Amino acid sequence: MIMSKSVLILPGDGIGPEVMAQVRRLLDRIGGFSLSEGLVGGAAYDVHGTPLADDTMAQALKADAVLLGAVGGPKWDSLPFADKPERGLLRLRKDMELFANLRPALVFDALAGASTLKTDLVRGLDLMIVRELTGGVYFGEPRGIEDLPNGERRGINTQVYTTSEIVRVARVAFELARKRDSRVCSVEKANVMESGVLWREEITKLREADYTDVALSHMYADNCAMQLVRAPKQFDVIVTDNLFGDLLSDCAAMLTGSLGMLPSASLGAEDANGSRKALYEPVHGSAPDIAGQDKANPMACILSASMMLRYSFDMAAEADLIDAACQDVLNAGIRTGDIVESGMTPVGTVAMGDAVLAAMDKRSGG
Ligand code: IPM
Ligand code: MG
Repeated sequence: MIMSKSVLILPGDGIGPEVMAQVRRLLDRIGGFSLSEGLVGGAAYDVHGTPLADDTMAQALKADAVLLGAVGGPKWDSLPFADKPERGLLRLRKDMELFANLRPALVFDALAGASTLKTDLVRGLDLMIVRELTGGVYFGEPRGIEDLPNGERRGINTQVYTTSEIVRVARVAFELARKRDSRVCSVEKANVMESGVLWREEITKLREADYTDVALSHMYADNCAMQLVRAPKQFDVIVTDNLFGDLLSDCAAMLTGSLGMLPSASLGAEDANGSRKALYEPVHGSAPDIAGQDKANPMACILSASMMLRYSFDMAAEADLIDAACQDVLNAGIRTGDIVESGMTPVGTVAMGDAVLAAMDKRSGG
């Protein structure tokens, strides 16, 4: 277990700083962390001319965990590709080697009615998407836009996976499944892509070698998208590549009623001491349309901090307390605009933070 608990906080753009402010209050309340703060995304570009300064990257590599808010916004949309806010996040993932992205989609009882799907379909839903995060078409070479002799242009990206890249993320999925319902569904397009054929073969081999106690099924990505909105409760753990994981996790997120509720963890390999590099961030984006208006839902960011306590700091009791407090707040009908139901008055970001803190105090007898 890590003793120092140094956390680098990167609030980023849009609603990032507002939701992160609520997380800071909560971490201060729990205590024992050494928190530092840095810039990422458009906020970093405005100050340093780059979406992630080398110094911030170095700090991230040294920290026990990184907490990120969100990046991006219309202000930076027309920047050259290499300067875009998203590149800051992608560099963090790549340089920290965070190959396993855990995106749980959990429907809180109180929110089952807030989903756009029928309540029966989503009540009790608890699935985990494990998305490969440092490979595939996001990083594959060759890439670029080139001029052709005939005056046309050609855009190129490459989908590429090696055995070791597939096996290490699949291991994370199998291990997680063992702590859940012991079912993994591996998702690719082996019907049209060689990288998908390899993906399927390697995962099948790995299961036969080390995880025969876990049930493994395979599904094409397009079918998976359909199954997620048809019968989402059939899934336990889904493991998939970077691009399919990006799409399917947005889809799964919406089953829960709002992107404003979903946390994520991005993990690297375990080192000799059993600790891993890790970055925690809400699945939602920077939501520039509501930024700075005290409207954003801080729960996804709060639940990301809870994942940090659980996965990086072995603080299951404190993580359980946060999760339960969020549950209490929802049960009490305290909602931000994104999850409000008829007859309820929406509250702001700060009030939501107040409510979670109060619920924690109440539960811990304070
Ligand atoms: C995500 C986001 C990112 C991605 C963007 C912001 C680069 O959509 O984390 O899902 O595509 O991975
Ligand atoms: Mg995405």
